[in-house]
Amino acid sequence: MHHYGNKIIDESRQGEALMLESEGHKKLYIESYGCQMNFSDSEIVASILAGEGYSTTKNPEDADLVLLNTCSIREKAEQTVRNRLSHLQYLKKTKPDVKIGVLGCMAERIKDKLLDEEKLVDLVVGPDAYRDLPELLKEVNDGRKAVNVILSKEETYGDINPVRLGGNGISAFISIMRGCDNMCTFCVVPFTRGRERSRNPQSIIEEAVQLQDAGYKEITLLGQNVDSYLWYGGGLKKDFAKASEIARASAVRFAELLRRVAEAVPGMRIRFSTSNPQDMTADVLHTIAEYPNICKYIHLPVQSGSSRILKAMNRGHTREQYMELIEKIRSIIPDCGLSHDMIAGFPGETEEDHQDTLSLMEFVKYDFGYMFKYSERPGTYAARHLRDDVPDEVKTRRLNEIIDLQQKHSLFRNQQYIGKTVEVLVEGTSRKSEDHWFGRTTQNTVVVFPKEQAKPGDRVWVTVEYCTSATLLGKLASLSC
Ligand code: 5AD
Ligand code: SF4
Repeated sequence: MHHYGNKIIDESRQGEALMLESEGHKKLYIESYGCQMNFSDSEIVASILAGEGYSTTKNPEDADLVLLNTCSIREKAEQTVRNRLSHLQYLKKTKPDVKIGVLGCMAERIKDKLLDEEKLVDLVVGPDAYRDLPELLKEVNDGRKAVNVILSKEETYGDINPVRLGGNGISAFISIMRGCDNMCTFCVVPFTRGRERSRNPQSIIEEAVQLQDAGYKEITLLGQNVDSYLWYGGGLKKDFAKASEIARASAVRFAELLRRVAEAVPGMRIRFSTSNPQDMTADVLHTIAEYPNICKYIHLPVQSGSSRILKAMNRGHTREQYMELIEKIRSIIPDCGLSHDMIAGFPGETEEDHQDTLSLMEFVKYDFGYMFKYSERPGTYAARHLRDDVPDEVKTRRLNEIIDLQQKHSLFRNQQYIGKTVEVLVEGTSRKSEDHWFGRTTQNTVVVFPKEQAKPGDRVWVTVEYCTSATLLGKLASLSC
């Protein structure tokens, strides 16, 4: 599936290097892997290190410090980083003083291996320990190995102003919470990124307003589980019950946060990711419907269409509950775009379970989807208690059936727009044609049209003439607003 924007793991950005123009005599080279949250974290890291006199470079050979911000979600992601680390060892031959570090989700899992056995890295820093980087670097520069993989109850980096890198100057990401408490049995995130905690709404709004002042037109509120956002003065979500009565009474939840952000920056489009069916409440749906600047698009992972498998995944919802939620979304936000994440070949998945997945997809007819083969992750409940018993060729075949069906549904959804005029936020030049702009509708569908007068950052009306399963093609109807 090919589409631009805020997908969970954007294949085209894997390994992308960040550039920050700032004064400094030391050079940092930082590469990011994994989800948008990780790319957003790299911007926080670049900001912390700018305070230490580091400016970024696109060229690892110029760097004094090389950092890889890593992902553990599937085995393939980890393998990519390991290969990259082995490759980067050549830097030490010509520049013995260069330091190499691993950040992010792989840090905790493989710190011993990387530091001691394989001696590939000098520095290992987990996702909650970036403030410690200046201290850790002192140790490294004194010739010691440095590690901090402690997960925090409080850390949200709320006060750190991330530098905006690698973006288009039009849409930006704002991290609103960290960690995940859902404990899906396949997922490594609760182990790599810790327990759920939310960021102060005031600092979120300030960041949104700054972005608006800087000319940005769209923000995406980011978290592993945004519907579970809960601010009660700081601290873990699981400790909410222990908070004072006043703190609990004045707590801010996701619907309220969305409302406040929508009102603070009425000229900006607002998106959010990722939602979880078990945590999504009706007031969130009503808020989306109420504010024209909140985009009519929900990324709502389901992972399987079989209630039996959903139970084994500890998803906290059945097939039927998910379908009810879809109906509720369609009744409250009739024109809502929907996408999913799906896993093929979870332990114990039978042909019948797989058919349930296909029939659930048929029921929803998602606009897009992100689809994966099950990959056993060390330390998870599934790895400890369930046998990875679906043969790889069966996983592949089921995944291909899921992808083919999604392709059909994407085409079906896109065809519904033919002949209609849709509002598009222009993001930049089409990847395929210099003479065309690309942008997205509120439903997150990519639209491509001949350049004419419009420019990036404009919101324009485009009449859709053709489509593929990935893209709407049309012509400019009018410059709006
Ligand atoms: N195997 C395959 N896919 C996984 N995901 C998470 N863990 C695994 C795993 N062990 C997928 C889920 C999740 C997305 C970010 O990655 O679909 O929603
Ligand atoms: Fe993001 Fe999960 Fe990968 Fe960590 S493991 S980078 S949270 S997708």
